[in-house]
Amino acid sequence: MRKKIALIGGGQIGQILAMLAAQKELGDIVILDVPGYANVCKGKALDLMEMAPHGNYDANIIGTSDYKDIEGADVVIVTAGKPREAGMTREDLLNVNIKIIAEVANGVKQYAPKAFCIIVTNPLDAMVYVFHKVTGFPKHQVIGMAGTLDTARWRAFIAMELGVSVADVAGTVLGGHGPDMVPLPRLTTVGGVPLTEIATPEQIEKLVNRTREAGTEIVKLFGKGSAFFSPAWSAIVIAESYLKDKRRVLPCAALCEGEYGVNGLFIGVPCLISAKGMEKIFEIKLTEEEKAQFQKTVASVTKTVSECKI
Ligand code: APR
Repeated sequence: MRKKIALIGGGQIGQILAMLAAQKELGDIVILDVPGYANVCKGKALDLMEMAPHGNYDANIIGTSDYKDIEGADVVIVTAGKPREAGMTREDLLNVNIKIIAEVANGVKQYAPKAFCIIVTNPLDAMVYVFHKVTGFPKHQVIGMAGTLDTARWRAFIAMELGVSVADVAGTVLGGHGPDMVPLPRLTTVGGVPLTEIATPEQIEKLVNRTREAGTEIVKLFGKGSAFFSPAWSAIVIAESYLKDKRRVLPCAALCEGEYGVNGLFIGVPCLISAKGMEKIFEIKLTEEEKAQFQKTVASVTKTVSECKI
């Protein structure tokens, strides 16, 4: 039997998720949105069914606003909520999106209690916290997508700056999905060569800053709405690692219970994503300077989470 992927939110990111999940034949796809947008999602689903002959995939894809349709889903990816507009921070979305995530969490809890859940909605680290709190799902079953996206951006900017293939850039970004996130130049390599040996300190500083502000750079260009291609791909990479037990090590917002000195908070850390879900958090020995940066991002996420009244 095919796997089932439920996409909660069928907007910009949701529609790209549906297309990628179909093209990768991850399973049958349900796109769920609010009743007023259900017909649009039905249309998007039908359009994707009609793309299948040339897209070369077999998948049943439907649009709906009824949680019954996500029943038994193996994976749930949540993008429901408002995106940013120019001049807004991710935290400005908190009050609107918290209600949406609580509603979504209840629907998922009722109809897909075994699903591996990937949260994309911003402010990410707080929304994944709320989703976990409302569902009461075990921690291995709920993660936030952001670190995978932040790392993709870090790798992309390095490749662009140095004129090398992005395939050869390896590295990671820790922390919350905001301007305090912690790219780790010390542990980044280009074809095995340390980044710190082939880029100048000025270049590295520029790359770190651009990565931290990457989402905002796109919001400014759009004026309204935020990035959708790269967030969608990042979530699909995580879903695929779970569904195919690829055992990828990806930075995700995972519930830390002592790791990195953090307790009871979802924050971006390197995670082993397997058929068990978020199987394991890998701890990195950070330098004093990196630790200080990490504590700063933890403080920001703690503040946002403390404002979540649930
Ligand atoms: N239940 C289901 N869907 C909902 C609900 C709800 N209660 N409330 C809103 N939605 C839907 C909207 O109708 C819309 O179709 O969520 C969708 C969001 O899509 P977009 O507005 O296009 O936003 P998108 O760019 O996809 O980003 C979604 O991900 O990266 C984050 O910051 C971004 O929080 C935003 C989220």
